Amino acid sequence: MMNFTLSNGISMPAVGIGTFMMSPAQAQKAVYDALICGYRMIDTAQAYMNERAVGRAMKESGVPRKDIFLSTKIWASQYLTEGTVEKSLALLDTDYIDLMFIHQPAGDFMAGYRKLEAAYREGKIKSIGISNFHGKKLERLLSQCEIKPHVIQMEAHPYFMDTKTIDMLKDCGCRVMAWYPLGHGDKTLINEPVFTSLAQKYGKSNAQIILRWHVQTGNQIIPGSTNPEHIKANADIFDFELTDDEMAAIAKINKNIRYYNATEEQVENYTNMVIDLDSQE
Ligand SMILES: NC(=O)c1ccc[n+]([C@@H]2O[C@H](COP(=O)([O-])OP(=O)(O)OC[C@H]3O[C@@H](n4cnc5c(N)ncnc54)[C@H](OP(=O)(O)O)[C@@H]3O)[C@@H](O)[C@H]2O)c1
Repeated sequence: MMNFTLSNGISMPAVGIGTFMMSPAQAQKAVYDALICGYRMIDTAQAYMNERAVGRAMKESGVPRKDIFLSTKIWASQYLTEGTVEKSLALLDTDYIDLMFIHQPAGDFMAGYRKLEAAYREGKIKSIGISNFHGKKLERLLSQCEIKPHVIQMEAHPYFMDTKTIDMLKDCGCRVMAWYPLGHGDKTLINEPVFTSLAQKYGKSNAQIILRWHVQTGNQIIPGSTNPEHIKANADIFDFELTDDEMAAIAKINKNIRYYNATEEQVENYTNMVIDLDSQE
């Protein structure tokens, strides 16, 4: 497993398991399977309503907590809620979180970010993340924050890379964590001929070629899967290397289109999406 170093010196595995849209039972099994086959990084979120299940899987795996890099996210309707970081700590059944994001650039996101800065100073979280930020809201966050974000989570895959946002964050050394690294499983992306031909050359699957492209681009990845074979394969991408020409051939399929396109109004409405964290299994 390869690691990336964050601007605060913390080491983060290049591949983790994502748990978006997984029920608690599915998340518990996927995270357990991932840890058993060698993953040491997990991504969850308050909004996924599976933090408690992720906590159970970490314990059940027997992998020491210090060997796991755990990331979660404060949901937008929790930015003004006292004790929300502590709530995630309790649900995850852990003393610290390696990386905590504010999930959406909505509402009083600076209040949410201040909670992360306070938790970072107290040692409750080891690094700070932002998710889905770009443009004016990112500018505002960067000008008002006291601690620069260590990681940005954003949609990224061979059809789409938000280079403008990545450029805005270069000076502070903020690292990219790619969500939808496999285009949310889109067969058109996965079956692009360039991946099929490279898969044949390297004896890998198309998905493994895409994931290898990500890490060589510098993207940390959190592919989501409930299939044990996919989980295993998605971390098995460190025994080959794409050439510069192959990286360039993959860059050519960029369509500059997102799978997920929320309007400003939809993003702001996330503050109204109330979640009952205590109700999860
Ligand atoms: N910050 C945000 O707003 C945000 C938004 C979206 C996602 N995320 C994070 O990013 C993670 C990844 O996103 P995602 O899970 O939605 O999309 P993804 O990782 O791009 O794709 C997941 C899909 O690909 C399939 N898949 C996985 N491995 C495969 C393989 N080796 N071969 C073929 N198909 C494969 C999975 O099906 P199987 O289960 O059958 O393998 C699943 O349908 C999430 O789990 C979450 O942690 C964050």
